[in-house]
Amino acid sequence: MKEKRSAVWITGASSGIGKAIALEFIRNGVDVIASSRKVDSLKRNKDEFNNELFHYVPLDVTKHDAVKSAAKEIFKSYDICCLINNAGITTFSQASKDSHKVVDGIIKTNLLGAISTIQNVLPHFKKKGRGLIINILSIVVRKTFQNSSAYSASKAGLLAYTNVLREEVRTDNIKVVNILPGATRTPIWPAESLSKYANKMMSPRDIAKFIFEIYKLKSNLVPEEIVLRPLEGDI
Ligand SMILES: NC(=O)c1ccc[n+]([C@@H]2O[C@H](COP(=O)([O-])OP(=O)(O)OC[C@H]3O[C@@H](n4cnc5c(N)ncnc54)[C@H](OP(=O)(O)O)[C@@H]3O)[C@@H](O)[C@H]2O)c1
Repeated sequence: MKEKRSAVWITGASSGIGKAIALEFIRNGVDVIASSRKVDSLKRNKDEFNNELFHYVPLDVTKHDAVKSAAKEIFKSYDICCLINNAGITTFSQASKDSHKVVDGIIKTNLLGAISTIQNVLPHFKKKGRGLIINILSIVVRKTFQNSSAYSASKAGLLAYTNVLREEVRTDNIKVVNILPGATRTPIWPAESLSKYANKMMSPRDIAKFIFEIYKLKSNLVPEEIVLRPLEGDI
């Protein structure tokens, strides 16, 4: 039987940090399965990267059944060795202004979406006796920022979930790494914040390079939780 190619699955890889991570991995010769909702953006990335190691699977992580079938298809063709939970959304408004629908969308994407992908890779990782799960959380789990209540709840929820998960899968040789980035120059920010603070923010490429270094670690060392802040501090 033909051996499956090893690959890394990145959610939210159509723009920002996820796109930069995808590019960094393919530049280093690693097959990438990039997923996000917007198929046009994924196709554009495929054209832009012009690299046969970049594969895309359109997927909305809020749809648990879709995650299940996507994972089934992906694992048919690839030996996924690493899942990077990066898909995320937010608002920049006060808790009193966020509708229930908005809060629901943030929790379903940032928290339940990541749990859903984790649930679908775990059986494969356990069977293989190895795996790496990298979650892109946020500095909001360490410091309180106004206008980010639902977002902060979603990231703090995923931190709690993955801290428990890490303890449960140690003996399966599965590593769980949480990255807590501060302000990074991506389309998640409103245009006015980008025009005001872009120079102070970190670049998605630098974040991606750092994540690739973590991926490369093949020893029993696990960077369990890492804060990444711009040199000049928070915005
Ligand atoms: N930028 C920062 O300052 C910063 C700081 C700390 C943490 N983060 C985290 O970094 C991650 C990436 O954000 P970013 O800053 O790079 O913003 P971004 O450019 O807006 O990227 C967000 C990505 O998530 C995808 N996405 C959103 N909803 C999705 C869904 N339901 N299913 C699948 N994919 C979905 C988007 O693609 P589609 O629209 O095509 O689905 C996009 O690819 C997020 O988790 C964010 O919380 C960002």
